[in-house]
Amino acid sequence: MRDLTSDTITEAVIATMRDTKDSRVAEILESLVRHLHSFVREVGLTEEEWAQGVDFLTRTGQKCTPTRQEFILLSDVLGVTMLVDALSNRRPAEATQNSVLGPFFREDRPRSADAADISGGLPGTPLFFEGRVVDRGGAPVASAAVDVWHSDAEGHYDVDVPGQVDPAMRALFRTDETGHFSFRSIRPSSYPIPGDGPVGELMSATSRSLMRPAHVHLLMEAAGFQRLTTMLFPSEDPYLDMDPVFGVKESLVESFDTYGAGAGPYGEQTDVSYTLLRRTFVLEPLPAD
Ligand code: BEZ
Ligand code: FE
Repeated sequence: MRDLTSDTITEAVIATMRDTKDSRVAEILESLVRHLHSFVREVGLTEEEWAQGVDFLTRTGQKCTPTRQEFILLSDVLGVTMLVDALSNRRPAEATQNSVLGPFFREDRPRSADAADISGGLPGTPLFFEGRVVDRGGAPVASAAVDVWHSDAEGHYDVDVPGQVDPAMRALFRTDETGHFSFRSIRPSSYPIPGDGPVGELMSATSRSLMRPAHVHLLMEAAGFQRLTTMLFPSEDPYLDMDPVFGVKESLVESFDTYGAGAGPYGEQTDVSYTLLRRTFVLEPLPAD
């Protein structure tokens, strides 16, 4: 293994890994080396560009903290997160589709009772959400764990704002025997993904918008079913077709119907307009062993 050239180095590197014990690790590493070398050859990467790339990745790692994962954000904006999800979770059209989890899910959310107000008293248009969880045959899925989280009317999550009511706009529900869960909150707003790190530089260099369309995140788990990580987007959002993390699917775009002041969704009087969203979620069974 001497005097390697640009023509022979790829096979030489792969040969050094021939004793890899795990066959899947061997497959992934061989393919990685082949694609990486092809990429370097194809663009004719210069030493200066290589150094810039190393610096970019170094700073991406340095930006990571327990609450900020710049590498996942990089994966999100390069479409890798949604590509891996699409390959891992091929679902029939009638099942509810996945979207990105994002960085704002928190384990320390309150467990809330049906119809709870999870807004934390924050200002905004009231949002009444009525959900139903069913299987592909339409039978209710009882006792499903349903996590909900979303931003406020200015596009901030509770974790974003020091001094904000905390936790707010997030909760864990359980469906009843009819598959029903519901809550009251405020309408979320669109917001930018974090742009103050290397990913922000990449977005700005490529003239891409940081803005995600407004959405409500939902994560559902029930025995015998695949985990559903999804979100719903209001149909009138101006950023639906430029989501920087590629999470929008037509089947997840909903009309967030807004009603004027007067009779509220449950017949009570209200002096503000409100949004009522009703949605059925269809879980996909786990594959049979
Ligand atoms: C989110 O929707 O919370 C999100 C997803 C990916 C990157 C940043 C934010
Ligand atoms: Fe989000």
